[in-house]
Amino acid sequence: KKQEPLRVMISGAPASGKGTQCELITKKYDLVHIAAGDLLRAEIAADTENGRRAKEYMDKGQLVPDEIVVTMVKERLMRPDSQEKGWLLDGYPRSLSQAVALKEFGVQPDLFILLEVPEETLVDRVVGRRLDPVTGKIYHLKYSPPETEEIAARLTQRFDDTEEKVKLRLHTHHQNVESVLSMYKDITVQVYGSVSKEEVFAQIDGALTQLLEARKIWNRNV
Ligand code: AP5
Repeated sequence: KKQEPLRVMISGAPASGKGTQCELITKKYDLVHIAAGDLLRAEIAADTENGRRAKEYMDKGQLVPDEIVVTMVKERLMRPDSQEKGWLLDGYPRSLSQAVALKEFGVQPDLFILLEVPEETLVDRVVGRRLDPVTGKIYHLKYSPPETEEIAARLTQRFDDTEEKVKLRLHTHHQNVESVLSMYKDITVQVYGSVSKEEVFAQIDGALTQLLEARKIWNRNV
C-alpha cells in the first residue's frame, strides 16, 4: 500500500533555525519546502504589486496582510508536486486567522515542529546570517561559515536582518505565537534549538522517524 505523503509545519522565532533545518529535512525526506518568507521575497524581487505592498510590512517587521499571504501559500500547497511528495511548510501560519484559513481549505499537518531558542541567541544569529544567492544556502559568519573564498565573496544579507528590525520581528512573533500553538497542541513536538544544527536535526529526525514507524504499524493493522 502506498504511503500517504508527509505534511509537516515548522515554526519558531525569527532566526530560530527554520530555514537551516528545512535544508536538512528536505535532503533526507524529499518534501517540497514552502517558506512564506521566501515566497514574499520572490514577489519583491519580481517587483510585483503584492511584492511592493509586502515589503512595506516586512520593513517594519510586521505580518504581511492575509489577502496576500493566504492565497500565495494555498496555491503553492495545492500544486501537484506538494500533493504527491508531501510538504514542509515554513513560517506559516503565523496568526490565528492564517491557521483558521488553512483548516478551512482542509489542510491538516501530521506534525508541528516548534524550535525553541533563547532570545539573546536569536539576535546574534540574525546579525551574522548571510545567504548565497547562487545556491540559496544559509550561512552564518561565525556558526556556519562559507566553504570557499569564492562563496564568501558573493554572500548577501537580508534587508530585514539588522538588530533594530529583528527586535520588531520578535515583538510580532510574541504577539501571535500562542494563538497558533493552541491550534496544533496535539501534534506539536518541541525541539531544543540552541545546539549545533546537526543536534537540532537529530531531534527532528527522531520525531519524523517515529511518526513514519507509527504509520507502518497502523497500516499493518487495518
Ligand atoms: P521569514 O523569512 O520567515 O523570517 P523569520 O521568521 O524572521 O525567520 P528567519 O528566516 O529570519 O529565520 P530562520 O528561523 O529561518 O533561521 P535560519 O535557519 O535562517 O519572514 C520574514 C518576514 O516576512 C516577516 O517578518 C513578515 O513580515 C513576513 N512574513 C513571513 N511569513 C509570513 C506570514 N505567514 N504571514 C505574514 N507575514 C509573513 O538561521 C538563522 C541564522 O542562524 C543563520 O545564519 C544560520 O546559519 C544560523 N543557525 C541556524 N541554526 C543554527 C544552530 N543550530 N547553531 C548556530 N547557528 C545556527
